[in-house]
Amino acid sequence: MGIKIAGTGMYVPEKILTNADLEKIVDTSDEWIQTRTGIKERHIADDNIPTSELAYHAALKALEDADVSADEIDLIIVASITTDKAFPSTSCILQSKLGASNAACFDLQAACSGLIYSLETAMYYIRGSKRYNKVLVLGAEKLSSITDWEDRSTCVLFGDGAAALVLERTDGDEECAIIASDLGADGNYGDILHLPAGGSAMPLTAENIGDRMQYLKMGGQEVFKLAVGAMVSSSNKVLEEAGVSRDEVKWLVPHQANYRILKAVASRLKIAEEKVYMNVDRYGNTSAASIGLCLDEMNRGNLVKSGDYVLLTAFGGGLTWGSMLLKWN
Ligand code: ACO
Repeated sequence: MGIKIAGTGMYVPEKILTNADLEKIVDTSDEWIQTRTGIKERHIADDNIPTSELAYHAALKALEDADVSADEIDLIIVASITTDKAFPSTSCILQSKLGASNAACFDLQAACSGLIYSLETAMYYIRGSKRYNKVLVLGAEKLSSITDWEDRSTCVLFGDGAAALVLERTDGDEECAIIASDLGADGNYGDILHLPAGGSAMPLTAENIGDRMQYLKMGGQEVFKLAVGAMVSSSNKVLEEAGVSRDEVKWLVPHQANYRILKAVASRLKIAEEKVYMNVDRYGNTSAASIGLCLDEMNRGNLVKSGDYVLLTAFGGGLTWGSMLLKWN
């Protein structure tokens, strides 16, 4: 039994917010944003468009690419920190939009590491039971809905978007597209990247809304340091487990948080910068969607061929991290 990536898809809203646009909203500059983050622009969804709608458009493209119909899907996993509602799950809302009536559904929350956590989960569902042959995995975020547009230290970083992959069981002894993986977390650092209000710990009140507690908070420098260390050690573990050398890696696809983080990770892994796939300049940080946006662009741009090793690595709130070595099918 093998597992292949049968199709990919992505969707970003049409509206683009440039650094010049942000200069009109907060005290910042295109120069500051580009130097510190590499971001030039990001896509922002209209107020009335929920995460499930972004996910829906990405899913349609992935299903078409995989030549799979919605009713063939056995499981939908949506990784997101910006679900439509606390419940029902965004995966259930998406199931209804797609008409994927045979799919079990759940959301998975591992912040920016969510897509890697979800791919690993999907792999074990497929391996563990013949009931799960085709799994739709999404990273989907409307980060603009939890962004504090008065906080220049965070509002310049994030964007909206969704990405989808169809994972499919294959017959025979084919190798699994997922060669090795590593997931980790350290809940002791939960407060350096979090959304304080809106859950059971701090239900929304007029007072905490006044204090802007419904928006994402981040200790940027602390996150930066921990992010680089965690992604490097997790990537090394995966390469070691797979017995694959860094020179054999065709592409490094890190979570697109920030150009400097990506560069630092590549440099510490001794992987040449030309092998690092980056689109953070066009989309900003889209959390769980970011690695999927890269994979879809790489797939559709024919940048990956059968047999190529693609190393994914991510880091996010939780704290969580994860790395995964794919052998492209
Ligand atoms: N425009 C202009 N000046 C700014 C801005 C801005 N948008 N934001 C902050 N500044 C100012 C600060 O006020 C500070 O000014 P001061 O020296 O007068 O106090 C100065 O710039 C430096 O601020 P720092 O926070 O020290 O800037 P730093 O170099 O650390 O860059 C950044 C900030 C880009 C957020 C960086 O820390 C970073 O990239 N951290 C990682 C964050 C990240 O990627 N998180 C995502 C991972 S997890 C996830 O994706 C959810």
